Amino acid sequence: MAKLKRLGILTGGGDCPGLNPVIRAVVRKACSEGIEVVGIKNGWKGLLEQDTMPLDINSVSGILPRGGTILGTSRTNPYKIEGGSKKAIGNLKKLNLDALIACGGEDTLGVASKFNKEKLNIVGVPKTIDNDLSCTDFTFGFDTAVNIATEAIDRLHTTAESHHRIMVAEVMGRHAGWIAVYAGMAGGADVILIPEIPIDINEVCDILNKRHKRGKGFSIVVVAEGAMFKKGDAVTQEKELDAFGHVRLGGIGQMLGERIEKETGFETRVTVLGHIQRGGTPTAFDRVLGTRFGVKAVEMAMEGKFGMMAGLSGNNIVAVPLEKAVGKLKTVDMDLYKIAEIFFG
Ligand code: F6P
Repeated sequence: MAKLKRLGILTGGGDCPGLNPVIRAVVRKACSEGIEVVGIKNGWKGLLEQDTMPLDINSVSGILPRGGTILGTSRTNPYKIEGGSKKAIGNLKKLNLDALIACGGEDTLGVASKFNKEKLNIVGVPKTIDNDLSCTDFTFGFDTAVNIATEAIDRLHTTAESHHRIMVAEVMGRHAGWIAVYAGMAGGADVILIPEIPIDINEVCDILNKRHKRGKGFSIVVVAEGAMFKKGDAVTQEKELDAFGHVRLGGIGQMLGERIEKETGFETRVTVLGHIQRGGTPTAFDRVLGTRFGVKAVEMAMEGKFGMMAGLSGNNIVAVPLEKAVGKLKTVDMDLYKIAEIFFG
């Protein structure tokens, strides 16, 4: 394979703590190998508009602890725009890039996988606070989101206990309840509700009633935004679909809180953590994971391992097929959920 001379990088989908450490690592590793790096702004949108910025060691200095992405992001789907994919592919060639590193979740990497089938040289990096990408033990951003949600649950405990209330915390997690399970376990939640298991309100109230009967005057319930009642649809803020076919979730916490208060008679309050979970500085774990992914992605591009994604397997960073990574969502491990259930009530 010819030596890699010019490398592009973009970040797409929801922003996520750890993206800047990936960008920094890609640039630092590439520069040390004599490879030029071009940043494509705002995900696939920037590729359609040829909106780019040069990236060198100085331009990534100081970004390691910064949340978000210096490249900007969008939820643009070139396959949903007439002639979009053809234009994006043409622009990649015009930009004279030997390879592209795409950092994203199921949507951005889904497009990357399709582009790879069109013979483009693409390497993926798995990003999402939801941790629902296959072929990697963890995505970066997840650890930060879990730590933020855990701290929030700890704080909710004090009000719950002082006021003898039930506090419901709604956390992110569109199709998978990883944040709810990890933060719920770490924060000692009394009930954890996730998209993978339909909510049985009678069961939830039974758990809470039993807990109150044994003398505990307060409870904490953690619910993922994508969780649904047994008879019901996902609770949304907007029915309109985005370019990748997703609705805007939010509101299950409020609905659940009202049902709990009505059925149990216990005063209940609801807190929606929302984008707080995605904001701010990444944890040390996410900085290190993002750095390792970034270095690996450059190595993969240099070795011509295209159509592959950097993934975490145990303590190793490995190359996994992009198609497999986006083929099926990684939902919550039910053995883990069973452990969490031991502590319900
Ligand atoms: O995919 C990550 C995520 O944070 C989901 O948990 C959430 O449903 C979605 O993004 C929110 O997207 P937006 O920031 O576009 O409202």
